[in-house]
Amino acid sequence: TVADLKGVKEGKLCLTVVTTGKYFIPRLLGSFCQIYPHVDVSLQVTNHHQIHQRMLENKDDLYILSKPPEDIDLERRAFLDNPLVVVAPKNHILSNQKNIPLSKLQNFPFILREVGSNTRKVIHKIFDDHNLEIQVRLELGSNEAIKQAIIGGLGLSVLSKHTLTSSCYEELCILDVETFPIHESWYVTHLSGKKLSVVAQTFLDYLLVESENYTADRQYDLAHSHH
Ligand code: PGA
Repeated sequence: TVADLKGVKEGKLCLTVVTTGKYFIPRLLGSFCQIYPHVDVSLQVTNHHQIHQRMLENKDDLYILSKPPEDIDLERRAFLDNPLVVVAPKNHILSNQKNIPLSKLQNFPFILREVGSNTRKVIHKIFDDHNLEIQVRLELGSNEAIKQAIIGGLGLSVLSKHTLTSSCYEELCILDVETFPIHESWYVTHLSGKKLSVVAQTFLDYLLVESENYTADRQYDLAHSHH
């Protein structure tokens, strides 16, 4: 068939990506599906805990996340930086300060993600490691809702830089806090025993090549290149 001649792949691709992956993976899937229009994609976006559950049930071909679980035998490849940053409303009183001591964050209320989120765990860990108290003002189950709550003046939060698209910088800013950004990576993983389908292997290879042209700083650079 014509499809075979062009090397076109057919079949289903099941992916689950961590919440912050939704700012990157759908676009990449778009260009992938233009090359391989006969691939039928199922994309789930969820937090680390839910991805762990899906792995235990062997639900997907590939999983994209920043903290691959230790208790599951996985093949993993780090492919992109996932820096975590302290986010504040644009005109926050700390917004022009450099190298803000971590302890200053105790004076401000925080907005946390839901239980099961790795971002939430990282915030708790950094406060605990430095014997600091965190003032939790509220918990929200989505990065987008947290951004809106920050804009609304409800508090500060720690988010992946990937969640900050260029338009966010009109209303939000990143605080220059010591020990931040926290450097995490995204990993693409699959269960070790699992033989990948041709489609899944093709997408994995595509992801590794394409992500080389992308960084979490891209949106920030776009937002700041205009002035
Ligand atoms: P989370 O992970 O949704 O579990 O907080 C996000 C991330 O690691 O980027």
